This record gives sequence, structure tokens and C-alpha cells, in this order.
Amino acid sequence: MHARAVAATTTALLGTAALLLPSSDVRAADDGERPTVIAHRGASAYAPENTLAAVDTAARLGIQWVENDVQRTKDGKLVVIHDDSLQRTTDVEQVFPSRAPWKVKDFTAAEIARLDAGSWFGPSYAGTHVPTLEQYVHRVDRNHQKLLLEIKNPTLYPGIEQQTLKVLSNEGWLDSGHLASRLIVQSFSADSVRTVHQLKPGVKTGLLGTPSVADLPALAQFTDQINPSHTTITTGYVATVHAFDGAHGKPLEVFAWTVNSAETARQVAGYGVDGLISNKPDVVRDATGGS
Ligand code: G3P
Ligand code: CA
Repeated sequence: MHARAVAATTTALLGTAALLLPSSDVRAADDGERPTVIAHRGASAYAPENTLAAVDTAARLGIQWVENDVQRTKDGKLVVIHDDSLQRTTDVEQVFPSRAPWKVKDFTAAEIARLDAGSWFGPSYAGTHVPTLEQYVHRVDRNHQKLLLEIKNPTLYPGIEQQTLKVLSNEGWLDSGHLASRLIVQSFSADSVRTVHQLKPGVKTGLLGTPSVADLPALAQFTDQINPSHTTITTGYVATVHAFDGAHGKPLEVFAWTVNSAETARQVAGYGVDGLISNKPDVVRDATGGS
């Protein structure tokens, strides 16, 4: 730990207390740099999550970064969907009534392509589909956007890290331009993040969750970000994370989720986070001056 880390750790020890400070004691959002704003599952308050419509809605709102969730079908195709079941965000119960519990891993890509992933959200989205990862990154690229890709439930899908990197490579997402500023791969699984880093060290990575300060030196060997729920952090915790250099020799960053109101956005930006992941990215951007 270097000198900056020592000072920050002292601050971190006050972490819980910092949560109790009145708002005037929390660093104002306009004191520091504006946070990056990331559209969570696309602009998912306004369009069905993890669909191309949600990507396009974020683009229309002027949001550069989108977040998604990647899982694998029965026949080995990568698709973009959050839950490990198709039940909540598609009409799978109607189309395949005898296939409960409708797990993503138990359906082929062709079967999933038949499903409506938009009507649950609103009738104007009827006919929207679960995108493949190829379709998804093609649309993000077409929109000149950037991608925070989450490898979801990796223990269900052995080898998904290598497969995800292969698709990204095939689609041109591992060239120097994308690696420099347009791609971050994250997961709740430290093993998965470590695997991505080992397979392709040039890829910027993020670990979801709020690890203990004691674990940060080891995690910083293979991740560039610590991405916690906004409800779990304080100014002190963020400062402590920043005090460690990540896998690419720059201070670890913090992207906090899921921040959906202007008031919460200003509060969490005041903690000094680098990014805010939001279902309403326009609201968060306008509240914080972020981009
Ligand atoms: O990117 C942060 C966030 O997506 C993590 O939670 O459950 O929405 O994937 P979840
Ligand atoms: Ca996610």
C-alpha cells in the first residue's frame, strides 16, 4: 500500500460513520470530476432491458455507455439477458408452457429467437427479441457507444469468459481503439474477472460488489474497477479503493449501481465515484453534469 492508501485507509475506518453524516458533510458532486453515466441494461426505465431498443434509447438520450448481461444457451450461443430464466422478460411461458422453469441454459438460440422480449414492458415493444451478443455489440458499435459487459452467472457456463472474448474479437471489439476506451468486462465473480484478465490482459475489467479493504491488494492484480451497490459505500470506502492501483497501473475506479433519482445521484457522486450505473441515465446525467 502506498502513502495515499494509508491516508485513505484511515478514512475508510470511518466508513460507516460517513454514511451517517449530514448531506452538507458529503463532498458535493460538483467538487470533483463528473461521473461517467452508464445506461443499466440499456436505458431500462424506458425500454425493455437488455434489448437493442434499450441500447437505441440510451443513444437517443445521448448516453455513450451501456451495460448488459451475457449468458449462454443450450447450444452454446451467447445471449444478452439478466435472469437465468426467460420467464420474467419474455413470453416463454406461453410459447413453451411445458418447459418450466424456463432456464436460459435449457433453450437453444433458435428457440430463444422466437420469443417476444418486449411485450412484458409495453405493447409498443411487441416483437422485440432477446439479442445475441453479436447482434448486441454490432448495435452498440453502430451507435458509436461503449460497453460495460457483465458476465452473468459464470458458474453456470464453464468457459464463458473465453467464449465472450472470442465473440468480442470476432466482432472487432478487441482492437486497440475499443480496448483503450470503449470496453469494460465485469462480473460478480472474482474468478471470472481474473480469468478474463489472464486470457486477455489488455481488457479493462471490473469486479462487482463491495469487497473488504483487506482484499483489495489481491483484487487489484487483475481488476481495474470495484463496482458496488451505491447503498453499500461511503466517501471513505471510495477513497480507499482509489488509493490502490489496478491491473493497468491506474487507480482503481468505482462505478456504483443502481442510481435512479437525481437526489441519490448527487449524493453518490459526492462520494467521489467515477461512474453511476442507472436505469434513468438521462436523469442522473442531468443531476450530476456527468457524461
Ligand atoms: O452493473 C451493475 C449491475 O448490473 C449489477 O446488478 O443484478 O443488475 O446485474 P444486476
Ligand atoms: Ca448487470
